[in-house]
Amino acid sequence: MAFFSQKQTGQAEVSGLPRHVAVIMDGNGRWAQRRGLPRTAGHKAGAETFRTIATYCKDLGMDYLTVYAFSTENWKRPQGEVDAIMSLLDQYLHESIETMARDNIRLRFLGDVSVLSPRLRALIEETDEITRHIEGFQANICLNYGGRDEIVRAARRFARECVDGKKTPEELSEADFPGYLWSAGLPDPELLIRPGGELRVSNFLLWQCAYSEIYVTDTLWPDFGKAELDEALAWYRTRDRRFGGLSAKK
Ligand code: FPP
Repeated sequence: MAFFSQKQTGQAEVSGLPRHVAVIMDGNGRWAQRRGLPRTAGHKAGAETFRTIATYCKDLGMDYLTVYAFSTENWKRPQGEVDAIMSLLDQYLHESIETMARDNIRLRFLGDVSVLSPRLRALIEETDEITRHIEGFQANICLNYGGRDEIVRAARRFARECVDGKKTPEELSEADFPGYLWSAGLPDPELLIRPGGELRVSNFLLWQCAYSEIYVTDTLWPDFGKAELDEALAWYRTRDRRFGGLSAKK
């Protein structure tokens, strides 16, 4: 039984539901190894979990889910594993092109996708085009993404505007800077979930998670279902978000 009743997209914040949840999809490899399966089987199961959780977030009335699918550091993995992850993304995008308008799920990609295969880039362009024409819940897939890389690129973009005479360094503010990030236009995630038990942020959404509540669970991502998300959301509702100030409750 779902902890939260189903709501229309855009109703987040009602009953303490976050608008934006971010997830580090960790533990796929361990999940597979514990079953004597190749690591790629864990990624396949992880992609299934992503489908389930994205649909559930939408049904609950959240506005955004952002997942870490492939980092700028993940290229160091064996070629077979990299290929398997890319092929799962390819398969997911193929399916999404058929179903996203029907299911009202928009997809956006954060990261440098210019280095991906021409085939994957074409699929991304196609999903971007479909996303432009639908409204509602949005899933953001971080692909060839690194938080530091994102900040450096944003700084470069701003510096370029200064060199071109469009901006002066003093004009840059904390409010404007996010507009130069891959995530421009997205609200910061209120909740960051890390399955797999590791206590680190792994270069994920470094700017955006400055004040996110962080929920870590030992459950491995392929085992993370609706009940686990309900638990994370219930925990989030107990948090007293102070943003460096004092509690309103005190
Ligand atoms: C981290 O687990 C997971 C990844 C590096 C890849 C995640 C990618 C997917 C789930 C497929 C993406 C597909 C879609 C549709 C979004 P790990 O391999 O580091 O796990 P471990 O810590 O147990 O080794």
